[in-house]
Amino acid sequence: MLKINNLCKLWGQNIILNDISLSIDSSKITGLAGPSGSGKSTLLRCIQKLDQPNKGHIEFQGQTGFMFQDFQLFPHMTVLSNLTYAPSLRDPKKDWTQKALFLLQQLGLKDKRDCYPDTLSGGQKQRVALARSLMIDPDLLLCDEPTSGLDINTIQDVSKILRSLSGKGLFIASHDLDFLTSLCDRIIILREGSIVFDEELQGLKDPIDTLKQYYHSS
Ligand SMILES: Nc1ncnc2c1ncn2[C@@H]1O[C@H](COP(=O)(O)OP(=O)(O)O)[C@@H](O)[C@H]1O
Ligand SMILES: [Mg+2]
Repeated sequence: MLKINNLCKLWGQNIILNDISLSIDSSKITGLAGPSGSGKSTLLRCIQKLDQPNKGHIEFQGQTGFMFQDFQLFPHMTVLSNLTYAPSLRDPKKDWTQKALFLLQQLGLKDKRDCYPDTLSGGQKQRVALARSLMIDPDLLLCDEPTSGLDINTIQDVSKILRSLSGKGLFIASHDLDFLTSLCDRIIILREGSIVFDEELQGLKDPIDTLKQYYHSS
């Protein structure tokens, strides 16, 4: 269980996250929706400790992994090195190559191990980014806009792969309500740094219509 209490984040005078409190079940798939600029990436970055909150705290017993928007692969490294580089710095004794090859195989990328990122399609880069974020066996995977820039077929592939990580907690920030409703157990909507909606999808009659109201109403 991830617990966030009274989290506030400011950039200069701007309040980006305004007193966020929530718990996330780390065996479920939770979606974080909201318009561009509502604070989704900032919330994920605070959880991953990439940004420092101004107030409040975040509790999680376990490891979180982070899948960046736009992949952020190292362009000068092969696919295999993209996976093994950071974990090898942390724990040089472990055989990270073995683990990387296993993940590449699972994600259908084994023949790409020696390729450089700029030779891959968007969907392949996304899968490499996913494999990289799974190297440390995170208990909760934070995904920032996993479908941005992907075509509809590739989005369905990403969706299938994320769903197949059953048992692993996922917290997925996305502006794509169709994608989130097809995948998530629960959806949280942020607007201007505050939570305006937080419900399990099961039981909602017209999830997309309902969510759209919270998205756009002022
Ligand atoms: N490093 C930063 N410096 C200043 N402002 C930032 C920084 N990062 C994000 N912001 C601002 O925080 C707000 C929320 O951004 P973000 O969390 O990226 O929203 P979202 O992911 O929902 O689009 C935006 O207004 C953005 O301009
Ligand atoms: Mg964002």
